[in-house]
Amino acid sequence: MPNDAVLKLEGKDYSLPTIVGSEGEKAIDVRNLRAQTGFITYDDGFANTGSCLSDITFIDGDAGILRYRGYPIEQLAEQSSFVEVAYLIINGHLPNPTQRRRFGDLLREHSPVHSDMAHLFEGFPIGSHPMAILSALLNSLGCYYPHLATNRPQEDLANFEEAAAIAISKVRTIAAMSYRKSRGLPYIFPKRSLPYCENFLHMMFSMPYEDYVPTPEVASALNLFLLLHADHEQNCSTSTVRMVASSGANLFASTAAGVCALWGPLHGGANMAVIEMLASIHAEGDDGSKFIENAKSGKGGNRLMGFGHRVYRNYDPRAKIIKASFDKALASLGIKDDPLLAIARRLEEAALKDDYFVSRKLYPNVDFYSGLIMRAIGIPQNMFTVMFAIGRMPGWIAHWKEVASNPKNKIYRPRQVYVGPTKRDFVPLEKRG
Ligand code: SDX
Repeated sequence: MPNDAVLKLEGKDYSLPTIVGSEGEKAIDVRNLRAQTGFITYDDGFANTGSCLSDITFIDGDAGILRYRGYPIEQLAEQSSFVEVAYLIINGHLPNPTQRRRFGDLLREHSPVHSDMAHLFEGFPIGSHPMAILSALLNSLGCYYPHLATNRPQEDLANFEEAAAIAISKVRTIAAMSYRKSRGLPYIFPKRSLPYCENFLHMMFSMPYEDYVPTPEVASALNLFLLLHADHEQNCSTSTVRMVASSGANLFASTAAGVCALWGPLHGGANMAVIEMLASIHAEGDDGSKFIENAKSGKGGNRLMGFGHRVYRNYDPRAKIIKASFDKALASLGIKDDPLLAIARRLEEAALKDDYFVSRKLYPNVDFYSGLIMRAIGIPQNMFTVMFAIGRMPGWIAHWKEVASNPKNKIYRPRQVYVGPTKRDFVPLEKRG
């Protein structure tokens, strides 16, 4: 075929079909490579490997483009809301007024958790990381709603709308409950009258004697944070969700696995690591230049957290949007001279002029500023990645659905190149040196 790739291997020519996506992305289809040639491909970290065809999110890393179902992130950030974007990502189109109302009603209906779930928090030692709690309790939803977690994809898909609403709504309640438990505070019941973000902040910060009412700017800062995190194609945690979903596992088990993958400091854990990095720079009285030199040398494993990205070789559009909205949110919170923000700005300015970062195309990613917004809102640092998980839930759900509803779904089972010991015979214990 005219557009086939031709592979020369051991003196033979092999023709491999190619695929071109709707945005012009090109791929060599190697699904029959091993059968044809006996060779597999090797690509640790999968930087050059497409695991699937997907119609959810498009990223152009060189141009700094991000679109959910074709809609530019800049327009959604400006004109939409997290809940509406969650609907878009899961269903593939923006909701009409009836669909939007129904979705909101479903989220409100499912905001409380089963009262027995409160006992699950008792089993965690004080100081347990909220990501460990979140993953465990998300998975437990399959025990409270077994009809939604049959592990028979066709049955689980038949009840998908309910399962999706439960996951999006209850992930927020579970997060707030883990915060209240960690502070020895009574759980605050969700209010049906409150929108998604306001209800979360109510469950986090209200007291039995006084409701917490966020300023509109704080609520919109949280709304923007969640919207910007809603999906990001085949990132580490979403690929994990797809991997688990490919075995036929239910939505709750798959997203619980996504939480675990997101936790790592190279991924969603970076928003916590950025604040730790800024705080340590501040504590040492460093203006950031010493840290940058260390980060360049890789000394002590120091990386400039919140910088760099596997796909973006340009500014992460989400970082730009968060940074632009930042001043409004801080002003509404009455925060003027945040020393960590000043250090972040100095680090960014210095790194963007430094050849080490420029030559490696390392720019601020979504995590560089997002932790500062969370900190300004009053979210505790060990919950920053939990907030990322709440935002990413719609994306994980959409990708679970894309795998579960694919009639040609194949279980994810990568190959490897074995480099261990060749065949050798067993040596009885008494004969071992
Ligand atoms: C997220 O995939 C997604 O879409 C993720 C995400 C999403 O929405 O789901 O966008 C969210 O995870 C954002 C990334 C958050 N992580 C961090 O901010 C941690 C710091 N950044 C890095 O560790 C790193 O940049 C990664 C993990 C993000 C990307 O790593 P890659 O693509 O595997 O790049 P690499 O590790 O191979 O680095 C290439 C070079 C190396 O130097 P050399 O070997 O060429 O000398 O760049 C250097 C690295 O040492 N480098 C850095 C650096 N990131 C890469 N050097 C200093 N500081 C950094 N942050």
